[in-house]
Amino acid sequence: MKRELIYSGKAKDIYSTDDDNVIISVYKDQATMLNGARKEEVKGKGILNNRISSFIFDKLNAAGVATHFIEQLSDTEQLNKKVDIIPLEVVLRNITAGSFSKRFGVEEGIELATPIVEFYYKNDDLDDPFINDEHVAFLDLASAEDLAYIKAETRKINDLLKDLFAQTGLRLVDFKLEFGYDKDGHILLADEFSPDNCRLWDAEGNHLDKDVFRRNLGSLTDVYELVLAKLQEVK
Ligand code: TMP
Repeated sequence: MKRELIYSGKAKDIYSTDDDNVIISVYKDQATMLNGARKEEVKGKGILNNRISSFIFDKLNAAGVATHFIEQLSDTEQLNKKVDIIPLEVVLRNITAGSFSKRFGVEEGIELATPIVEFYYKNDDLDDPFINDEHVAFLDLASAEDLAYIKAETRKINDLLKDLFAQTGLRLVDFKLEFGYDKDGHILLADEFSPDNCRLWDAEGNHLDKDVFRRNLGSLTDVYELVLAKLQEVK
C-alpha cells in the first residue's frame, strides 16, 4: 500500500493511502500545551487516545452522527475519511472551567443552565483567538447555514456523550471538536475525542483529563487508562 506522511501534528501524524478519500491517523506519545511551547513525551498516550477516541467515534457513528471514523487499525492507528478541516475549534461547555473561568472571572465548577458553544480560530500564529459567528463569516470559514449545522451537531454530540460519561460516573465538563468537508462537501466530525480535548471530573472533583499534565497533578497515562477502563464497562 502506498503510504506517505502528509501532515505531522502535535498529537497525530496523518498518512495517505491508496484511496484518495481515506487517510491513516497515527496517534503519538506526545503531550503539548501553550501552543506547543511545553512539549513532553508521554509513553503509552498514543495507544490510550487511539483506543478512547475509536471507542467514542464508534458510539457516535452508531448514533447516526456523521463522522470521519472508519475503523481502528492497530494500537496507534485508525482509518479515517479524508476531510478538509474547517479551521475552527468548536468548544462546548457544560460546567465552568479553564479559560472560561479566567476570561469571565468565575469560579470553576458552576453548572451552566444552557451549555455554551464557543468558537476559536484555529491558527497557531495567532494563538487560536476567541471569535464569534460574525468573525467566522468575515474570515470565510463556513457559511451561516454550515455554522448552524455545526452548532446543532455539537449540542447533539454533547447530549450523547454527557450521557455516555454519566454511565461511567464521570462529568463531561467541556470539550473541543473539529469538523471538515468530505469530497462531496458534507460536513463530518473529524479529529479526535479523548481526554486531550475534553475535561472529565469524577464525583470527588478529581481531574481525569489533560489538566493532569497542564496542572502537574500526577500520571497522565494512569488517569487515561482509568477513563478507557470505565468506558469499556459501559453496556
Ligand atoms: P479551555 O478552557 O482552555 O478554553 O479549553 C476548553 C476545552 O477545549 C477543554 O476541554 C480543552 C479543549 N481544548 C483543546 O482541545 N485544544 C485547545 O487548544 C484548547 C485551548 C482547549
